[in-house]
Amino acid sequence: MPGLMTNFLAGVCLLGLFSQSAHHVFAAPAPATTDTGASDSGAPGYISDATSWSFAGAMLSVPRSSIASTSVGHLALFAGGRLQNDTYSDVVDIYNRRTNKWTTGRLSVPRSEVGAGSVAGRYALFAGGFDSSFRPMSLVDVYDAETGQWSTTNLNTPRAAPRILNLGETAVIIGGLSGDLQYLSRAIDYIGADLSIGNATLPSVYPQFGLAIADSDCGLGLFTSGYQNDKPGERFNDFQASNQSALFVTNTSSASFSQAPAFPSPRWGAGGAASNGLFAIGGGHIFGDGTTEPLTTVVDRVDLFSAATGQWSDTPLKLSVPRDYPMVQAVGDYIVFAGGSDKSKDFDILDTKSGTFIQGLQHRPALYTLRTDAAAVTVDNCLMIVAGGLVNQSRNTTASVEMFNVCRT
Ligand SMILES: *[C@@H]1O[C@H](CO)[C@@H](O)[C@H](O)[C@H]1NC(C)=O
Ligand SMILES: *[C@@H]1O[C@H](CO)[C@@H](O)[C@H](O)[C@H]1NC(C)=O
Ligand SMILES: *[C@@H]1O[C@H](CO)[C@@H](O)[C@H](O)[C@H]1NC(C)=O
Ligand SMILES: *[C@@H]1O[C@H](CO)[C@@H](O)[C@H](O)[C@H]1NC(C)=O
Ligand SMILES: *[C@@H]1O[C@H](CO)[C@@H](O)[C@H](O)[C@H]1NC(C)=O
Ligand SMILES: *[C@@H]1O[C@H](CO)[C@@H](O)[C@H](O)[C@H]1NC(C)=O
Repeated sequence: MPGLMTNFLAGVCLLGLFSQSAHHVFAAPAPATTDTGASDSGAPGYISDATSWSFAGAMLSVPRSSIASTSVGHLALFAGGRLQNDTYSDVVDIYNRRTNKWTTGRLSVPRSEVGAGSVAGRYALFAGGFDSSFRPMSLVDVYDAETGQWSTTNLNTPRAAPRILNLGETAVIIGGLSGDLQYLSRAIDYIGADLSIGNATLPSVYPQFGLAIADSDCGLGLFTSGYQNDKPGERFNDFQASNQSALFVTNTSSASFSQAPAFPSPRWGAGGAASNGLFAIGGGHIFGDGTTEPLTTVVDRVDLFSAATGQWSDTPLKLSVPRDYPMVQAVGDYIVFAGGSDKSKDFDILDTKSGTFIQGLQHRPALYTLRTDAAAVTVDNCLMIVAGGLVNQSRNTTASVEMFNVCRT
């Protein structure tokens, strides 16, 4: 399987990228030679007929929003978040796709705005966040999917809501919110397969709070969109939608990044995911002057970046409805856009093989409950789970979980 995957990917990933000069190189440790079993070949493949995706419901142990979620091995983990009374939670709900069982664990400290990701198909990472006094933290809780044990480590720089790229044998923890006047962090921490930590600084023109989108099969990650501080170091920040893009590339021995072409349509609140070397960023909002144009306009635009060409497409696609802060997940060859709209529960499903949205479905998969600030994660590349968030016009936290099973077993 790994050999096949590499050959297949040579056609889809990494072309046109080698000519660009790397700003920083992180030497990753050699990958573990023992098979952890956490990411073994038990992954089932997926159903390509979207009308056959099945639905199941479940509940988190505690209702909450702003949950940090990730998947590793056959597990989905939902950590921390914000309770109905606005205090922070340390609860971690863990779903095992193989056994169909839920268990719970605990973060070492209750917190919110935690960055979540995974590395080496074995470790789930819960990085940074705000403590109960609203101070950014450097704490990383690590869950080992092979042993079920928790441990902790620390980022070099404390920050809340850092973004995480899972590049296979290396995870990249990028930026976030820092406690200082500058507010947006440029710090990067690398975590290797042996949990060693290295660090670097993103050399962006302006500090940026963007989207981090990984295609871990390709070992590629994109950090782009979001917003930047146009007046770093000055007394008053000036936050503007950002066009800066950085591309992270990894192989079994190192990780590096370089500047990528500018994001074509700067906006806030977009969501994104990648599959087959195609990176899709959709939705978000733009600001108007509030008099001749509305103060904010939610958009339906979808921008595509191809790893094969190293370029953005000049023909953006459209979602069926405008979506702000949508949940976006890669599920097999598909990229699913959900939520981020009070008008539609329907999914928009982009087929990365054809680069087009699936049209004319008789039974389009859809959310059962519209919600904001919910967690979304995909297990084994085929089970998409939406959990928690805010319902009742964002007044109430929910424990409700929706599972969309696209797995072919
Ligand atoms: C907030 O709610 C949680 C869970 O219901 C409870 O344990 C905690 O004591 C509450 N905290 C405050 C300050 O009300
Ligand atoms: C690594 O982190 C330390 C501690 O925050 C910092 O002093 C140093 O500048 C960082 N190195 C790079 C290359 O960013
Ligand atoms: C990116 O945005 C900056 C402003 O932050 C602008 O000066 C620059 O021209 C933009 N680049 C492209 C290629 O659009
Ligand atoms: C891995 O990447 C580094 C830096 O990008 C490069 O110098 C090295 O040749 C690559 N190694 C392999 C085996 O591709
Ligand atoms: C929705 O919120 C309102 C106002 O907080 C509250 O009175 C009502 O009970 C809530 N409804 C539900 C179904 O939770
Ligand atoms: C929704 O929130 C309102 C206001 O906090 C509260 O009165 C109501 O009980 C909540 N409903 C549920 C179902 O939690």
